[in-house]
Amino acid sequence: MTDLSHPTLPGSLPDKRQVAASFSRAAASYDSVAALQRAVGLALLGQLPDALAPARWLDMGSGTGHFSRVLAERFAASEGVAVDIAEGMLRHAREQGGAQHHVVGDAERLPLREASIDLLFSSLAVQWCGQFASVLGEARRVLRPGGVMAFSSLCVGTLDELRASWQVVDGLVHVNRFRRFEDYQRLCAESGLELIGLQRRPHVLHYPDVRSLTHELKALGAHNLNPGRPSGLTGRARMQGLLQAYEQFRQPQGLPATYQVVYGVLRKPMAEGL
Ligand SMILES: C[S@@+](CC[C@H](N)C(=O)[O-])C[C@H]1O[C@@H](n2cnc3c(N)ncnc32)[C@H](O)[C@@H]1O
Repeated sequence: MTDLSHPTLPGSLPDKRQVAASFSRAAASYDSVAALQRAVGLALLGQLPDALAPARWLDMGSGTGHFSRVLAERFAASEGVAVDIAEGMLRHAREQGGAQHHVVGDAERLPLREASIDLLFSSLAVQWCGQFASVLGEARRVLRPGGVMAFSSLCVGTLDELRASWQVVDGLVHVNRFRRFEDYQRLCAESGLELIGLQRRPHVLHYPDVRSLTHELKALGAHNLNPGRPSGLTGRARMQGLLQAYEQFRQPQGLPATYQVVYGVLRKPMAEGL
């Protein structure tokens, strides 16, 4: 995704067709490697306000639908909508139940009516959206007054060990770029939604070797899609360089990969403009 601290670089916006194709390809492998995604989504569910009883919820960027199924169980009397930009992910999710409706759509231009949703849940999807302000604008449009948006995302600091190791090798863009936490703070403050909570928490995963990490990113569909990424296969010498550079980060548990996770909970005011 694009680092919005450089909003004047439209050429570096991610190509959404590539994002959709990459996640569609990953639909079958995603669940087997999604430990971090599970932990983050669960932590986000834990931040929902008590006594929430949505008539209709939206799982935005629903992926394989794991959290759609959790939401369907938790809010058994409610109606669920799953939206994702990747048709392959939705196909996979639909087969397993959860939401009643599976709709292909973009978080920056939701294919939903205004004031039609009571809970907008979105875990680890909006880091793929170039314009988070548009995501918040859409949330404000589709939420009913009093409705809640709960999102998790990634910010600067994520995968820095991998980024720094590639920097030693060739200085090219090998790792997705992320928005700064301060930009999440500012955009949420300007959104017209009430901020209930916004925090950043590091999650560190450990891998026996670099290949396990890069294979996992590929199986998730979350490998580097940025313009400026190197094309073609990674040469043996450069790969050797990467393995060597990453070793400087090794800890007793293995090679660390840090994810800086943003958790946000917002509410649409009961009466707008008051
Ligand atoms: C890392 S997966 C997370 C899936 C699920 N929320 C979870 O926690 O397991 C990110 C998902 O966001 C979707 N996505 C990316 N950009 C999107 C956009 N602009 N609008 C809607 N979905 C998007 C991807 O297709 C993918 O399924």
